[in-house]
Amino acid sequence: MKISVLGLGYIGLPTALLFAKGGHEVIGVDVNQQVIDSLNAGNIHIEEAGLQELFDQAKDHFIAQNTISEADAFIIAVPTPLNKSLRIADLSYVRAAAAMIATKLKKQDLVVLESTVPPGASERIVIPILEKSGLSGSDFFYAHCPERAIPGNTIHEMVHNDRIIGGTNPESGMRARELYSSFVQGSIFLTNVRNAEFIKLLENTYRDVNIALANELAKIAEESGINIWNAIKLANKHPRCTIHNPGPGVGGHCIAIDPWFLTENSTKTGIIHLSRDINDSMPNFVIHILRGILKGVKEPTVTIFGVSYKGNVGDTRESPALKFIQLCENEGYAIKCYDPFVNAFDYPLLDLPSALSDSDCIVLISDHTVFQQIDPSKVQMRRKNVIDTRNILDSQRWKAHGFTIKIMGNGEPEPQGLEELPTEVSIPVMDDKVIPL
Ligand SMILES: NC(=O)c1ccc[n+]([C@@H]2O[C@H](COP(=O)([O-])OP(=O)(O)OC[C@H]3O[C@@H](n4cnc5c(N)ncnc54)[C@H](O)[C@@H]3O)[C@@H](O)[C@H]2O)c1
Repeated sequence: MKISVLGLGYIGLPTALLFAKGGHEVIGVDVNQQVIDSLNAGNIHIEEAGLQELFDQAKDHFIAQNTISEADAFIIAVPTPLNKSLRIADLSYVRAAAAMIATKLKKQDLVVLESTVPPGASERIVIPILEKSGLSGSDFFYAHCPERAIPGNTIHEMVHNDRIIGGTNPESGMRARELYSSFVQGSIFLTNVRNAEFIKLLENTYRDVNIALANELAKIAEESGINIWNAIKLANKHPRCTIHNPGPGVGGHCIAIDPWFLTENSTKTGIIHLSRDINDSMPNFVIHILRGILKGVKEPTVTIFGVSYKGNVGDTRESPALKFIQLCENEGYAIKCYDPFVNAFDYPLLDLPSALSDSDCIVLISDHTVFQQIDPSKVQMRRKNVIDTRNILDSQRWKAHGFTIKIMGNGEPEPQGLEELPTEVSIPVMDDKVIPL
């Protein structure tokens, strides 16, 4: 089958290559000429485990171009970012991709939307644009096949995860299932389009709300002198309890965004928006801890460990690190960032010794495994303070080397200001007596 995949990013490129490896002829289409040039020169432009190897295996059945050609099936995998000020989906890329397909669409072709969209967007937006081809919705097949793969393990998950596919009619769903069966080894469940759109969003909303619960529990635990990490571990021994971990906030291209897509047409939201607010407030909570530690320190410098939105990936989209850094700047702190996974960021990325030199506190934001391998005996900084927002460091080891370490949510008070402030301030009075305050 000849397949055209529109959008060769984190999702579109591996999907296109898996189709190509499965024996289909694949035309990858992207509007970014640099992406096309790089792929046609044999280089992938995305950091993802196993992707270069997959490309090398599939490249004889794959070409990349910036224009659309005729095909039997079209897959849309273009961005659907959040319009941050309005908190609604920006569907401009999906509209543009659908308009491109409409110029080539023939009877009996299959169009699959992989991009994440608000419920009803296929029926209201995408299919009417495809119908501008002159065909009616019953002349072509249409399905939504939302993606569930996780960055860092994308290829494995694309192959092994179960999927849901929603077709405009049973024949559309079955055609899409047949196509994806060329590489998907998980089960494929069929439903209708609107259900598929809704289910994708509710999966990530469930995770966002669950993390918000963990974050709120972490704050309560701090007040109650409870270690939330141990408490959640033990609570999850209950056969029907699965609480996620707290952290410095929620980022990435899905969990921090999908709840807004799910609710943009709804008047019935409460817990979903509240959860977004709780998760967005976590950098403020971490700053509060940091402020206590740096109390009395003149012109403090803070080292950020990890600016990606989660561990062991270089993806900084919606990362809570950005808000945290900006809050630090508003406090008057100088910032030094260290992240061995990230190539480009809004702030300079330094090597480890430079990021640590003259620093007064490390704040661990991303749970990169490499941070666990850092030898505290070799860490040279001005003051030996660490805030671990992910509970991944061996705190006893760091303490043994003279560090104070505050694990977010461990219920222990943060170490207080490091430059000794006078504990007793005296004010001279008229009769030469002093009144201790
Ligand atoms: N990245 C993930 O982990 C993930 C997981 C699940 C779902 N999704 C969803 O998948 C979709 C794609 O996300 P992504 O992370 O792959 O995005 P991305 O930004 O990595 O890549 C999208 C690509 O589409 C290209 N593009 C934009 N407009 C185009 C057009 N009209 N025609 C052809 N190409 C075009 C861009 O140049 C870019 O290379 C989004 O809706 C996202 O929400 C992503």
